[in-house]
Amino acid sequence: MKRILIVGAGGQIGSELTTYLRGIYGGSNVVATDVRECKALAADGPFEVLDALNATAMASVVARHHVDTIFNLVALLSAVGERNPQMAWSINIGALMNSLEVARQHHCAVFTPSSIGAFGPNSPKVKTPQDTIMQPTTIYGVCKVTGELLGNYYAHKYGMDTRSIRFPGIISNLTHPGGGTTDYAVEIYYEAIKNHRYTCAVPKDVYMDMIYMPDVLRACVELMEADPTKLVHRNSFNIASMSFTPEIIAAEIKRHIPDFVMDYDIDPVKEEIARSWPDSLDDTCAREEWGWAPQWDLPRMTEDMLKVLTPRLMAEHA
Ligand code: SER
Repeated sequence: MKRILIVGAGGQIGSELTTYLRGIYGGSNVVATDVRECKALAADGPFEVLDALNATAMASVVARHHVDTIFNLVALLSAVGERNPQMAWSINIGALMNSLEVARQHHCAVFTPSSIGAFGPNSPKVKTPQDTIMQPTTIYGVCKVTGELLGNYYAHKYGMDTRSIRFPGIISNLTHPGGGTTDYAVEIYYEAIKNHRYTCAVPKDVYMDMIYMPDVLRACVELMEADPTKLVHRNSFNIASMSFTPEIIAAEIKRHIPDFVMDYDIDPVKEEIARSWPDSLDDTCAREEWGWAPQWDLPRMTEDMLKVLTPRLMAEHA
């Protein structure tokens, strides 16, 4: 990885991954693109407005910047996808197909995220294996499984270097997700600090895998830099670092904010999605094939989230 293109850089992963990659590979070697103008991404490296559904425009950016690796991060998340499945399919798969095709023509490697959402109600629930039944019941999940198959197809058919990670719900103190089923685990920190209360849309007993953003960023680089001869799998690796329910994260926050109260107003769409996803993933293959090891768990992440967010939200409030 020397010259990197990020497609969808303004989103949840992209806005932090761009800065992280620029720190490692140099600002001018990481080209950030998004469908919308994004001033923050233009501050420390090249930024271009790019509609990922326009393959000609994508190819032009790749050629002009001599890109060798494409991070395709364009996706509508699970809950918002259910409101418009046709649009979710055309955006999620359209951007991926263009990234794969442009990468094929310009000899680039491709990273694209998959998700715990690629699994469904028929997958084993606890310690869900790397290779198992994948029959998701959301359009988001259908796109993720399709994306995994396409990634492997391009590797097999064209010898391309395609790699992917099945991310748990991502928690960050910088970027908000927007439209996902796991969003509650981000919102809860903001509301706990600002109002000492939070109304959760996901039932209190539903376990889902979650991960803190610093582990996400490191995982992307570690997988893309991994020795290809060691990779038995490519698209896509289970990774895991923590699994909890709304009740468990609320209890953890209460240790720091004793008068924090959580109540529930269940969103039936999110409930159905959350219940269809695994409780926890088995990440043995990622550990064995490229040395994956998480650095954050729920107590450490909670401490860090509150430490970073509290002064910032207090300053905004003042
Ligand atoms: N965080 C995503 C969502 O909730 C899952 O990958 O849609």
